[in-house]
Amino acid sequence: MNKEKLIKQYKAIFHKSPTHIIRAPGRVNLIGEHTDYNDGFVLPIAIDRYTNILISKNDDGKVRLYDLKYNEKDEFDLENIKPSQQKKWSDLQRGIAKVLLDAGYEIGGMDVLIFSEVPEGVGLSSSASIEIATLLSFKELYNLDIKPIEMIKLAKKAENEFVGVQCGIMDQFASLLSKESNALFIDCRTLDFKYIPLSIQSYSFLICNSMVKRKLADSSYNERRKECKDAVKILQKYLPEITSLRDVSINDLEKYKSYLPEELKRRVEHVIYENKRVKQAVEVLKKGNVEAFGKLMYQSHKSLKELYEVSTKELDLLVEIRKDETGVLGARLTGAGFGGCVIYLVKNYSVEHLKEKILDVYSKKTGLVPQFYDIVPSRGAYVEFIK
Ligand code: GLA
Repeated sequence: MNKEKLIKQYKAIFHKSPTHIIRAPGRVNLIGEHTDYNDGFVLPIAIDRYTNILISKNDDGKVRLYDLKYNEKDEFDLENIKPSQQKKWSDLQRGIAKVLLDAGYEIGGMDVLIFSEVPEGVGLSSSASIEIATLLSFKELYNLDIKPIEMIKLAKKAENEFVGVQCGIMDQFASLLSKESNALFIDCRTLDFKYIPLSIQSYSFLICNSMVKRKLADSSYNERRKECKDAVKILQKYLPEITSLRDVSINDLEKYKSYLPEELKRRVEHVIYENKRVKQAVEVLKKGNVEAFGKLMYQSHKSLKELYEVSTKELDLLVEIRKDETGVLGARLTGAGFGGCVIYLVKNYSVEHLKEKILDVYSKKTGLVPQFYDIVPSRGAYVEFIK
């Protein structure tokens, strides 16, 4: 839906004009999975699918929301913010208002129209895009003096504490700070970041939705987090200085892995080598070595499947389909796993052929019709003023 149409809708719903449009993108992670909550490294890009939020101030201390995806409205009072019983979607906005107030920021009411282009529940961070857009909305309307890193931390806090999903910091980071044609290399411990230019003109990233819905809150995501914590606890007996798996070197792993139960050993191995792969990915991308990057993607998938055990047979099938395809350089599940999407790195001329092949093979084998998203590495969240 274009801007003019959205403004028209806004006027019809709120009987006034919006003053700003805030746009915050979804993200896809190129490599570095399940490393963010282990203080490790990640390499996401923002995708050209945005959550659009049209806003204007109100003086009655209420946040009024209308979400075009659900064609539903909701409202809450800033004096008394509780999770919604019926309209779960509005917990994202409620959570953001709550963490801002708790942190001492002075915010007031606003009237909000939401239109998100980010597919929901498939691992492309639709929630993070809504959180970041909502935070930016309050920042703009109430002139909050708040730095990007603080915004990212607060958005994550809202998701962790209010929505109840124990996500790491990558999604909110990518939604706010990504840059067009670049990947975002994040050190999830120090929160330092670097832009890595993607000189991949003759290649594309293609996303394929396995159509197996994943629900982070209900999934084994929190269980994996706990396993990592448990592993750290055991390893601390031998390596007292470590505080997370980020601190465990490959040598340490070799030396002490026999003290870990089999399952935890696999988890730790994934995290340590995945961190290494992210750093290698940055190096090869800097040199423009796209083939090497593709190989790292495959290795990452193998590790997520065999060691971290977050793949599904559908995701594996999508990664395998490419095997005898020329022009496909890499593929892996992306996001938390347990369903959701696969990302391919593919030569431009092979994209359509790959889609046809996937449609044919995947549909026959699973009875599911996969969905494709052609994406380009895009800019992070931004504000547009409406005259
Ligand atoms: C989800 C979380 C992220 C990250 C990934 C796995 O997308 O929201 O913080 O942990 O899973 O890499």
